Amino acid sequence: MFLTKEEESILNGEKGNAERKSMEILVALGKIYGAEKLIPVGSVQVAGVSYHNLGDAGLEYLSELSKDGKVKVLTTLNPAGMDMNNWKSLGIPEDFAKKQIMVIDAFEKMGILTNCTCTPYLIGNLPRFGEHIAWAESSAVAFANGVIGARTNREGGPSALAAAIIGKTPAYGLHLDKNRLPTITVKVETAIKTMPDFGALGYVIGKKAQRQIPYILGIKEASIDLLKTFGASAVTYGMKPMYYMEGITPEKADAPIETLTITSEDIKSAFNEINDDTDEIDFVFLGCPHASIKEIAEIAKQIEGRKVKSETWIGLSRTVKQLSDERGYTKIIEDSGIKFACDTCVAVAPLKGRFKSVATTSAKACFYSRGHNAMKTKIGTINQCIDAAVSGKWN
Ligand code: F3S
Repeated sequence: MFLTKEEESILNGEKGNAERKSMEILVALGKIYGAEKLIPVGSVQVAGVSYHNLGDAGLEYLSELSKDGKVKVLTTLNPAGMDMNNWKSLGIPEDFAKKQIMVIDAFEKMGILTNCTCTPYLIGNLPRFGEHIAWAESSAVAFANGVIGARTNREGGPSALAAAIIGKTPAYGLHLDKNRLPTITVKVETAIKTMPDFGALGYVIGKKAQRQIPYILGIKEASIDLLKTFGASAVTYGMKPMYYMEGITPEKADAPIETLTITSEDIKSAFNEINDDTDEIDFVFLGCPHASIKEIAEIAKQIEGRKVKSETWIGLSRTVKQLSDERGYTKIIEDSGIKFACDTCVAVAPLKGRFKSVATTSAKACFYSRGHNAMKTKIGTINQCIDAAVSGKWN
């Protein structure tokens, strides 16, 4: 891989330990994937933020890097293991909280915006069409490539952080035109309208078009909230983090000849596979990917004047929470007993053993709740999930 004189000097340690380590990671990655050079990135989104996943070894690595490491571009974080302010009310153990705070402090020392969210595009980390970025969260990567037309591979935690410290990433994979072309046409021959429909569609495409870039036909309309849900589900179940949706996403390409057809039967089977056999709901999680202000408004409308029976959390960024506070939604929602879980989510909070069954709008949340936390899962609309939260039952 070609390195400029400056990049060589970083690799030789002339700019300090953090830059040397980061350059080593980028060069090793570039060599593995056959990159010809490094390219500048406009922004970074770092994953591997929860102490639950990092452990002491990860915390030690970050503390070491933060001694002389500073990021060169706008960098935000993926969800952490807890709400950084409100962790007590979410029942997070104190020992865990102490370690999580140390993790966030290390990131802050490096100049990172410590807003922890999987929807960085909703809080100002918003790339332009064609811009190279280095993002790590899979749902955000699918959103950036597919919906925005920015260019990023799905980075690991260390490689994203290395890209932030150097301000560059190796030019391979989805950064290159030839690797962004669709590889299969997907004809959707059934109406896809609601949030769970989009999650189920992502489930089917992820499973049937493993490691492929689909060119999707037949979707008439899709809001930003529906697209973020779709991408999160599709990559969780196997799609490459890039897709085309004709008439909706911005990048242009020809539809491939190889075609997959999705019928109402496929969507029905997806719902059967995502939903477990349970009537009792003791946990409801909304905001996967992290909720937009539009979703918060909808939740406030549905819950006004009601009280929840099941523990209910909304995952969201601190920035969207501030908007919610200002609009008066927070009060309506908290009066019902629903809790805001800023900075965190169902996949990275230490929830194992706390709840038996979850209701959620998201197929991705079902995957992690079942896999990581051994919960039974139900997917539904915001309306259905709120009803489940109020009654403690799935109808
Ligand atoms: Fe975001 Fe967590 Fe869902 S990272 S996409 S809220 S599983």
